[in-house]
Amino acid sequence: MKKIVILASGSGSNAENIISFFEKNDTVKVAAVLTNKKSAKVLERCERLKVPAFFFNKAAFSNPEIFIGLLKGLNPNLIILAGFLWKIPAFLIKEFPDQIINIHPALLPKYGGKGMYGANVHEAVKRNSDSETGITIHYVNENYDEGGIIFQASTTICESDDANAIAEKVHRLEYEHFPLIIEKLLK
Ligand code: GAR
Repeated sequence: MKKIVILASGSGSNAENIISFFEKNDTVKVAAVLTNKKSAKVLERCERLKVPAFFFNKAAFSNPEIFIGLLKGLNPNLIILAGFLWKIPAFLIKEFPDQIINIHPALLPKYGGKGMYGANVHEAVKRNSDSETGITIHYVNENYDEGGIIFQASTTICESDDANAIAEKVHRLEYEHFPLIIEKLLK
């Protein structure tokens, strides 16, 4: 059995989509969802979906012994950042080489880096009147949004699309591709 651990900071719609995708899979299981935000909607989703979920604070996250210990206990083959907004410390990257992946709601290297997450990304894309945007799934390294790219998919933007419409198009791409890429990486 291959195991996934998901880290999420917010709504968790990608986390839910991944959980649902692997629900009836006998070889891949979402072992747990971890969040750094007590009020994150992802916790409600896990409650409903009956998936183990844990909250951790900054002190736990930045303590190698504690956080590596927590993850090792869950024994994941893949650690998935799905809307997780804290920078991953070097000790985690070292401990889980090529086992941590992130989804970014734009076509990296465009619109990456600190502060570039969620709605901020879509608003910047709209401000620049780009004609396309998309998603990037990539390995995580010490710098925000700079690890090796695994997969990208794009979608066109119409003049009438506002930032919300762009976000919706991007989410659709995320739901379609993220579980499939995870499945492939686990084979
Ligand atoms: C997703 O669109 C994801 O790509 C983005 O946050 C959203 C989370 O939505 N991640 C980043 O911006 C990371 N820089 P969700 O909580 O509903 O899955």
